[in-house]
Amino acid sequence: PPMGWNSWNTFGCKIDEALIKQMADTVVSSGMATVGYEYIDIDDCWMDGRDSSGKIQVNSSKFPSGMAALATYIHDKGLKIGLYSTPGTRTCANIYSGYTGGVGSLGYETSDAQSYAAWGIDYLKYDKCTANLSGFAVMRDALRASGRPIFYSINPGDGSGCVPGQCSIDLPNIANMWRIGFDINASWSSIVGLIDQNVNLASYPGPGHWNDPAMVE
Ligand code: GAL
Repeated sequence: PPMGWNSWNTFGCKIDEALIKQMADTVVSSGMATVGYEYIDIDDCWMDGRDSSGKIQVNSSKFPSGMAALATYIHDKGLKIGLYSTPGTRTCANIYSGYTGGVGSLGYETSDAQSYAAWGIDYLKYDKCTANLSGFAVMRDALRASGRPIFYSINPGDGSGCVPGQCSIDLPNIANMWRIGFDINASWSSIVGLIDQNVNLASYPGPGHWNDPAMVE
């Protein structure tokens, strides 16, 4: 499975380009890159609404140089870059913590996939929040049509559970990776609990598609 670093559990919405560059530097200098940790994944709160033509806007106070420049910085280190969106109209941080710039991709899947491809994005975390499951296949097709290989990591659960064999969508045919449980945290009970859940789903992963017990703690 893909390995790397994700911004959410440590920094939440408090992210900016200096921080993300520092994390990329650290993944290299710590030696994690040489053992396969290659993705630098920017979670919720990088976006800031849409322009009048519907194009997704990067939050320019957090990322003044733009997302393409950050992607180049990360690529030049031999790493890859990920972003976050949702199949609804509002991201989880918008819904639950009032980050009003957090717009989702519903109805804008093709446009957003084209923006990601143009910026050089390598990975998308697509998070259900309160949206419908049907949107996951729409973004899969939009990413494919973008012409850039973009790893597709989805969170189809909302606490109620959507895991292979028990979900109305065919996860291995829709995504490269799917979350199997609720948000991880830096406690033994959380980590071992997700390992236990993963054991029961061991028959579902295969080449190019994996169970996701969530980010590294
Ligand atoms: C949650 C998700 C977290 C994080 C957060 C961002 O739904 O499980 O991993 O992405 O949204 O708002």
